[in-house]
Amino acid sequence: MELKILPSLLSADFARLAEAVAAVENAPDAAGRADLLHLDIMDGRFVPNITFGPPVVAAVRKVTRLPLDCHLMIVEPGRWIEPFADAGADFVSFHLEAEPHAHRALQALKKRGIGGGLVVNPATAATGLEDALDFLDYVLLMSVNPGFGGQAFIPETLRKAEWLAEAREKRGLKFAIEIDGGITPETIRAARAAGCDWFVAGSAVFGKPDPAAAIRALRAAAAAAAAA
Ligand code: DX5
Ligand code: ZN
Repeated sequence: MELKILPSLLSADFARLAEAVAAVENAPDAAGRADLLHLDIMDGRFVPNITFGPPVVAAVRKVTRLPLDCHLMIVEPGRWIEPFADAGADFVSFHLEAEPHAHRALQALKKRGIGGGLVVNPATAATGLEDALDFLDYVLLMSVNPGFGGQAFIPETLRKAEWLAEAREKRGLKFAIEIDGGITPETIRAARAAGCDWFVAGSAVFGKPDPAAAIRALRAAAAAAAAA
C-alpha cells in the first residue's frame, strides 16, 4: 500500500501554525511535501496533556488543502464526531480503549464522509481489532504512550503491524496501517518493513530546521526499506 508521511503539528510552534503548515505543504518537490497533516487532540483525561479542539482544526482547515487526520486522545470520542466533522476533518481516529461503541462511532464517521480509524496504545492487543477491521479505513498503532512528542519508539509495536498486514491480506481488506510515535529516519525502516503505510512524525519534522528536508529523509528511508 502507498507510503504516506503525516507531519504532526504537535511539534510545531502553536503561535505560527500557518507557517508550519506552509513549510510542509509548499515544498518545491513532491518528496518534501506532507501527504496529510496529523492533528493531536488531547483532553487531559484520556492522556496527561491538553492540546486543542475543533476551533483550531477549523482554523488549520482554512489555511491548507492537505487532508486533515485528527487523532482523538479523549474520553467519550463518540460524542465529538460531529464537531470535528464540522471543523473540516477528513480522517478521524479514536482509541479503542476509550470507546466501547466503536462500530457506532465508525458508522457516524462514514455517514459524514470521513475516513474512520481505530487506535491502540502500546500495551493493547491489535487482535482486539479483529472484528472491527471490516468497518474501518485505517488502524493507528501507537509506538509510544500517547500524550507527548519526542519519546522513544517502542519496537514491540511492529509485531502488531505484521499481524495486521497479514490479516488484511488474508481477508482481502484495504485499511491502511498508520504508526505514531518516535518515527525517525532510523525507526521508519523497520516500521515500513513490518507493513506500516502511514507514518506520523512530529519532532522528526517540526523539530528540524528544514521540515521539507526532514520529510524527504523520512520518505527516502521508508522507500529503501520497501525495496530491500
Ligand atoms: C503523541 C502523538 C503524536 C506525536 C508524535 O501522543 O499522538 O502524534 O506528535 O511525536 P513524535 O513524532 O515526536 O514522537
Ligand atoms: Zn498522534
